[in-house]
Amino acid sequence: MCGIVGAVAERPVNKILVEGLKRLEYRGYDSAGVALCNAGELSSVKAVGKVVNLEQALNESDVKGTTGIAHTRWATHGGVTEANAHPHLSNNQLALVHNGIIENHDKLRTQLKAAGYEFLSDTDTEVMVHTIHQLRQNSDSLLAAVQQAVKLFEGAYGTVIFDKANQDEIIVARSGSPLVIGLGLGENFIASDQLALLAVTRSFIFLEEGDVARVTRETVEIFDANGVAVEREVHESNITQDNSGKGDYRHYMLKEIYEQPVAVRNTLEGRLTDNGVALDAFGSFSDGSNQNKNANDIFKDVKHVQIIACGTSYHSGMVARYWLEQYAGVSCNVEIASEFRYRSSYVHPNSLLVTISQSGETADTLAALRLAKEQGYMASMTICNVAGSSLVRESDLAFMTKAGAEIGVASTKAFTTQLVGLLMLTAAIAQEKGLEQSHIVHAIKTLPNKLEEALGLAESIEDLAEEFADKHHALFLGRGSQYPIAMEGALKLKEISYIHAEAYAAGELKHGPLALIDADMPIIVVAPNNELLEKLKSNVEEVRARGGIIYVFADSDSEFKSDDTMRAVNVNHVDDIIAPVVYTIPLQLLSYYVAVIKGTDVDQPRNLAKSVTVE
Ligand code: G6P
Repeated sequence: MCGIVGAVAERPVNKILVEGLKRLEYRGYDSAGVALCNAGELSSVKAVGKVVNLEQALNESDVKGTTGIAHTRWATHGGVTEANAHPHLSNNQLALVHNGIIENHDKLRTQLKAAGYEFLSDTDTEVMVHTIHQLRQNSDSLLAAVQQAVKLFEGAYGTVIFDKANQDEIIVARSGSPLVIGLGLGENFIASDQLALLAVTRSFIFLEEGDVARVTRETVEIFDANGVAVEREVHESNITQDNSGKGDYRHYMLKEIYEQPVAVRNTLEGRLTDNGVALDAFGSFSDGSNQNKNANDIFKDVKHVQIIACGTSYHSGMVARYWLEQYAGVSCNVEIASEFRYRSSYVHPNSLLVTISQSGETADTLAALRLAKEQGYMASMTICNVAGSSLVRESDLAFMTKAGAEIGVASTKAFTTQLVGLLMLTAAIAQEKGLEQSHIVHAIKTLPNKLEEALGLAESIEDLAEEFADKHHALFLGRGSQYPIAMEGALKLKEISYIHAEAYAAGELKHGPLALIDADMPIIVVAPNNELLEKLKSNVEEVRARGGIIYVFADSDSEFKSDDTMRAVNVNHVDDIIAPVVYTIPLQLLSYYVAVIKGTDVDQPRNLAKSVTVE
């Protein structure tokens, strides 16, 4: 999704801005632009498509500057055109970039047009720069104009603006879309994600909701939503930006699929005892009465878990429902964040709220967390892959997955490490309630090796993928905790191969989807050997009897055999508890190889973004 980079320095910042945008490319975008100021001269260069197009256009121009802002745009209002790309200018005086959506843009545009402002784009963003320009006419400073303007904006924004008349300062404002200030020596930087700035600094200030800041080469002044000057903590980042590129892998996604045994090992490291879970993995917090609370204070009393997430993270939550109810003796609801945030939900007594997110910045999940914090949950907890992200900062407890930077838009290793975090949460709650949980811990410990074994299936799955290349639809089936894995498999196939795919709980087949079965509809079945296997086999026979072709990923001792209507891929036997994690691997590989055969943009599929910071 949209990315922002800004810099105010003594040296030319062209390269810093372009490098920063490149580091944000993986998030998904469709055009890019930069505005630079040099000796009071404001220039802007934009390009549709990849950042390399912008880089080329910038290199071919003689535009350079010591103050600058840059942006990758993921279109929401207005098509993918140079005119709609950011930065947007007002009267060739102010330049502004924006992440988020201004919901009252129509009303503001009408007023601004009546006041004589000319609009050059179809974006909601352009109203921001003209509004600030208009207010600047009667205010003492750009800072004051921005502070007044944000009161008029409804919606979400992370925005960065400068005035060519005073190029030594940049003003930034955050509400709903993250912004971070990077501190340098005699130069300072701004970005929507610290990853963009790792080449120039490791010291970061995360702006909070409602903050407006004035950033110069030497100083950073921050004001909260009431205009009161505030100090925000400086964080030293220890994130290691993965600079090793794709290595020998053709795509980041394939590299990340293969990194899963290591990512899971890292997520487990130091967090399991011989028979239990080390609870400090979940952190601690101070409650309203300044009492320090640890995870065990919550886990021993919890009776219900409410999980909220989006996309792939939602699927990991769906798996956790099976685990929590079966092994930890608590009830569990799982809901998509965009639904949860707009309805009145019932809060069960002794409920723990759990958000799951690889990015920690998903707008709907964050909004749902903020809403839920008003509703009387015992505590909030996030399972997240990005330290310092909004969800981590705003939740009471946090379990950090250690998947490392995930570049491919389609989530792989972030998902399996979320599952590990949720399995550890299950074991930890069971442990604090005095329930038997050592079998879960022992099963978790086998995971890295079991994932390695599952990766050994790649070659046979690559062969199978050929049969999908000309298909337009696919159906994924699973039962029990494999049903959400079937959903995740279908999502992966949709995301990167653009084949329409649906997932069903296999028991639902005869209630509708059976009508779709014919030789053109591949049916993918995940079939570990558990108490539901015989039921699943009956479902498979229902499909075969109607001419469907089955692709089954089955436990090696479950006796599925390949024939004319069935392709069976044997997966080594694994404990049922960890089977959802292991069976994810063949489905990821299948989607990957189908996408490669179809020639799609595997790492940056069309229309999708890695981090969805707008509603
Ligand atoms: C986007 C990404 C998905 C991700 C979803 C939720 O759609 O492309 O891979 O599952 O957002 O993101 P989160 O960061 O909250 O897990």
